[in-house]
Amino acid sequence: MDEENKLSRKTVLKAALAAGVAAPVALIGGPALARTTVANGAVPALTPECHDGDEPTIEQTEGPYFKPNSPERTNLVTPGTQGTRLTVTGYVFGLACQPVSRALLDFWQADVNGAYDNVGYTFRGHQYTNAQGAFTLSTIVPGLYPGRTRHIHVKVQAPGRPILTTQLYFPNEPRNNTDTIFDARLLMTVRDNGSAKEAAFDFVLNVPQTGTPTPPTSTTGGPTSTPPGGTTWAVGTSYAAGARVTYGGQGYVCLQGHTAQPGWEPPNVPALWRAG
Ligand SMILES: [Fe+2]
Repeated sequence: MDEENKLSRKTVLKAALAAGVAAPVALIGGPALARTTVANGAVPALTPECHDGDEPTIEQTEGPYFKPNSPERTNLVTPGTQGTRLTVTGYVFGLACQPVSRALLDFWQADVNGAYDNVGYTFRGHQYTNAQGAFTLSTIVPGLYPGRTRHIHVKVQAPGRPILTTQLYFPNEPRNNTDTIFDARLLMTVRDNGSAKEAAFDFVLNVPQTGTPTPPTSTTGGPTSTPPGGTTWAVGTSYAAGARVTYGGQGYVCLQGHTAQPGWEPPNVPALWRAG
């Protein structure tokens, strides 16, 4: 395809930098843990880019509290809203890592006390990605409620395409280890900004895009070499932060402790593994 016209995540970043505007967290991010460990002022590493052939964002249960007809708005905070302010930013990409403009995102979440508004539309709102495929949600960190870890619900839909229903999660939540619905592939990167928090997550929708080569992932053949100090990533292994593995010939550093599960291969879970 015409590489000049391929607006990749990298070129979005370059455009943002060239324009002298602050790049969204999603683009400058490493996972939050990586960022917060950079205490010496060094520039954090870029997040892994969206690659052709990346798996689409996984689906999750809608749960019992979805309500249709949410108001169109990007800010769910109203005067008097309690809770830690949270801004979630990101992009919606298709299978060729090109941004999807006018994609619908419908968010709903619990309030600071873990309660959903099932009468009105508090903490419910839908919006559309802009021409660059970007979205911004202003909200609060949702409260916990029994049986679940902290999460935000969302439905994402490219124009004329099926709806993806899923949930977004927060790193370093104790209940991530006991919530059977939790999936690390849906972890946002989160960092503090004063008393508020900034989170980022990019969606990849199962949307064919012009010129999509969709090559098979090169990560299925196992490692082709094992750099010193790295063992081969394996399901069922408990990894501590800082652990090094190889997967598909690439080295990765563990960003937060976890036990590896199928589907949590390092290239799939940037919140857990950083290439390097
Ligand atoms: Fe929920």
